[in-house]
Amino acid sequence: MTSSRLRPLIAGNWKMNGSRALTTELLTGLSALRGKQPDLAVDLLVCPPAPYLTLAAQLLQGSGIALGAQDCHAKASGAHTGDVAAPMLADCGCSAVILGHSERRADHGESSEHVATKAKAALDAGLTAIVCVGETEAERDRGATLDIVSAQLEGSIPADAEAGRLVVAYEPVWAIGTGKTPTPDDVAVVHAHMRSLLKAWFKDGAEMRLLYGGSVKAANAATLMHVPEVNGALVGGASLKADDFWGIALGAAG
Ligand code: 13P
Repeated sequence: MTSSRLRPLIAGNWKMNGSRALTTELLTGLSALRGKQPDLAVDLLVCPPAPYLTLAAQLLQGSGIALGAQDCHAKASGAHTGDVAAPMLADCGCSAVILGHSERRADHGESSEHVATKAKAALDAGLTAIVCVGETEAERDRGATLDIVSAQLEGSIPADAEAGRLVVAYEPVWAIGTGKTPTPDDVAVVHAHMRSLLKAWFKDGAEMRLLYGGSVKAANAATLMHVPEVNGALVGGASLKADDFWGIALGAAG
């Protein structure tokens, strides 16, 4: 099987948005849409803020939609006030966790080395680690995109990762929440590069799903999701409305 035919994963990163009411409305709506087309060949994942995970897990029961979190600590328990451990996420019904998002790298000073320890903790807890990489606008402007992506990938992925439980998301920082996206050709270059690195490092590197993230909407999903080596999307703003998120799933499957 070639990687371009991997079943797409459409993951929604709600970031620091939502409420009990929004969680209920959004997941009820999304479950209904999925229920009408259970055979659509995409996997769906939603990643609400930590306080809403338990409610989300209840709402998603039987829906076929998976639940994930937005971060975890590198340790499984202990004196780390305010942090959340990977086994707790699994206990609350999560099957995945986003790690190393550029907002966490920027807001919390997370290095790639730090992200790798979190990813290891996630794998140890039985979760899928969705590891994010991507260049800033300044890095892109000086032609450093592939160098930055290579270094972040190499530093952030634990050595014992395997295809079933490692997903990489390429999110150019300048495309997040801006309405700007790279051209399909630009995405193809970065994804081909990431694929070749993963194939060199892991025997099942051809099977690891590579998501694109950054201003993905229903209107551009079909184009971006059919770029070679793109196996799905990590969606921010458009994951906060059931119809918009579902529209992206339709674009990926079509
Ligand atoms: P937007 O889809 O809002 O650009 O956010 C992308 C993102 O950061 C997902 O993790």
